[in-house]
Amino acid sequence: MAKQRILSGVQPTGNLHLGNYLGAICNWVAHQQDYDNFFCVVDLHAITVPHNPQSLAQDTETIAALYLACGIDLAYATIFVQSHVAAHSELAWLLNCVTPLNWLERMIQFKEKAIKQGENVSVGLLDYPVLMAADILLYDADKVPVGEDQKQHLELTRDIVIRINDKFGQPDRPVLKLPDPLIRKEGARVMSLTDGTKKMSKSDESELSRINLLDPPEVIQKKIKKCKTDPIKGLWFDDPERPECHNLLTLYTLLSGQTKEAVAQECQTMGWGQFKPLLTEATIAALAPIQNKYQHLMADKTYLETVLRQGNQKAAGVANQTLERVRAALGYLPKL
Ligand code: TYM
Repeated sequence: MAKQRILSGVQPTGNLHLGNYLGAICNWVAHQQDYDNFFCVVDLHAITVPHNPQSLAQDTETIAALYLACGIDLAYATIFVQSHVAAHSELAWLLNCVTPLNWLERMIQFKEKAIKQGENVSVGLLDYPVLMAADILLYDADKVPVGEDQKQHLELTRDIVIRINDKFGQPDRPVLKLPDPLIRKEGARVMSLTDGTKKMSKSDESELSRINLLDPPEVIQKKIKKCKTDPIKGLWFDDPERPECHNLLTLYTLLSGQTKEAVAQECQTMGWGQFKPLLTEATIAALAPIQNKYQHLMADKTYLETVLRQGNQKAAGVANQTLERVRAALGYLPKL
């Protein structure tokens, strides 16, 4: 039986943090052998908020290199750049024309980001989830592994599929495949180091709120030293009154590769002074191999360019077929 297809992506805005890693990429890596995987660097999404043209290309390469450094294996996965496959923009336009405006206006992420930008909100930011739907649907993805914050966008994608199939498909011949989100419980919502009730985010103004995958050991040490805790001795999970404690224990569990039960037992009588060095050590040790591999990949860009060129070609082959299927269903003259 053919393997199920996976598609996911990360935006090239700055480098990746532990939320991106534990919420998304770790899960891609852990289950890659079971699926036919497509992972893109979503550079078209990166310009939905003001961006820096001087760093976009470099950031795009960084994310692609980090996919490989984190353990994505080309024997199971295709890595490509979203804007290099024109079908993404083209399908997004077709989907735009069947997506009601009010579906987009109620997206939580749009509302949150729009508040931050005031008058300068772009049409692209509103349209972000439609482009994301195009990314997924072009590859007939069965599953989309993401963090918890992307759940609403996946629901919107499913609504778009249902609408298109309803309007333009036959009951036995749907135009688009209905994808399922794949959100794993552990790591699906990594919280900020400076506020355990807020998601760890690239857009947080404080660098101290997140640990980036490429942070050197002394920076990791400093961030953990300064992170928010509470005055209680003894550490335990799942206490709504202690969001920071739950988050830091979860990070320690995932980064040290232990079970939740083992960590609960190890830390039950600890104070923060004892715990923080442990978390620091586990974080540095987990990131060191990724950082080494990343430095290697960036030292000779020709390999990375070959990976992306081949990835783009393979992705375009799949995406263009789906695009043609949608165009036909919508009644377009076939491309001559
Ligand atoms: P981005 O770059 O904002 O996030 C990339 C992935 O990281 C996850 N994530 C988190 N997981 C746990 N805790 C956190 N604090 C945290 N912060 C981020 C996100 O859920 C995501 O899985 N819209 C997507 C990019 C995208 C995409 C797609 C994803 C564009 N097209 C198609 C899947 C399929 C995003 O959030 O990127």
